[in-house]
Amino acid sequence: MSSADLRDLLAGTGAQLRESVRLAELTTLRVGGPAAVARCASTEALVATVRALDAKGIPVLLLAGGSNLLIGDDGFDGVVVEIATTGVELGADSVCAQAGANWDAVVCRTVEAGFGGLECLSGIPGSAGATPVQNVGAYGVEVASLLRRVRLLDRASGAIGWAEPAELGFGYRTSKLKHSDQAVVLAVEFALDPSGTSAPLRYGELATTLRVTDGGTRPAAEVRAAVLGLRAGKGMVLDPADHDTWSAGSFFTNPVVPHARVDAVRALISAHVGDITVPTYPAPDGVKFSAGWLIERAGFAKGFPGPEAAARLSTKHTLALTNRGAATAADLVELARTVRAGVEARFGIRLEPEPVTVGLTL
Ligand code: EPU
Repeated sequence: MSSADLRDLLAGTGAQLRESVRLAELTTLRVGGPAAVARCASTEALVATVRALDAKGIPVLLLAGGSNLLIGDDGFDGVVVEIATTGVELGADSVCAQAGANWDAVVCRTVEAGFGGLECLSGIPGSAGATPVQNVGAYGVEVASLLRRVRLLDRASGAIGWAEPAELGFGYRTSKLKHSDQAVVLAVEFALDPSGTSAPLRYGELATTLRVTDGGTRPAAEVRAAVLGLRAGKGMVLDPADHDTWSAGSFFTNPVVPHARVDAVRALISAHVGDITVPTYPAPDGVKFSAGWLIERAGFAKGFPGPEAAARLSTKHTLALTNRGAATAADLVELARTVRAGVEARFGIRLEPEPVTVGLTL
């Protein structure tokens, strides 16, 4: 479609159209080639824009915080719909946020207003609307456990309505909304605890930091401060001056090994690494192993492959692939493939990427 036609198409929607935008500007990995971007600062504009593009069959890429996206160097041949809504409303025991609201600002607002619930999810980059898509989780809490409902635009029917968590097929870092273009998240609503008490603290490192026994609680503000400290120490809080944070967070999910294969994996680990305890976590259909640990023990130290590389593992955490300033998407893909092949060769486990990829395959 010509740029004049695109302008005409989006004229009445309320979106602000920019052409040939480098998508690197809109992602936390800071890579990605050019595309037309329609910025939508209201839910009405967002709905009208997606409907108009869908009616003409124009490919749409939804983008908000850009923190879980690896976009190829050729950009996107369609229109990027930038979700730039910001509204947040506190209720008596809940918070409702528009999809584009900065997630950490939402968490901060609830904690400062004296509510508990979201504090373990402090410091996570990205937008509120993205959190149910991949069932964001950290420090023992997952979005699925606190979410009350999600407001969705169904792109096939054009209908708008609230969906309950039970309809969304949540799993570890996944939901029905991930890898599907069928729905657009417009708003999210979370249950909060008006007493200001945190969720039960179940993550060893956080419980130790706060000196509570497993399952104990603390005031939400105290937990938020501790989580921010832990995350910052791992380069998992955005800081433009620190290239360790030019990432998409964890680049791979922690692999869940089916029960039938666990002994074989443990044998490979002890053959290569010796009798060291590998961190594991219970999972519904097997045992979840720590991807960061496996990467490091497969020979990829923090900062791999070295200071000269444009793309390297974070110097603070092996699970984050980072852009040192001049990396391309191709550099990151090459690093991801190297790490994945090394872990597979040594431990027989194929790591799965966590970010959504656009215009490239790993
Ligand atoms: N480890 C290493 N080397 C490293 C980093 C970690 O060996 O460089 C080992 C350590 O043994 C450590 C273990 O890995 O104890 C676990 O590390 P960490 O506590 O940092 O957690 P993670 O499993 O690597 C997950 C989530 C994070 C979340 C943290 C805290 C996934 C894929 N990642 O990371 O989420 O913040 O737990 O709950 O589930 C994200 O999804 O983008 C993300 C950052």
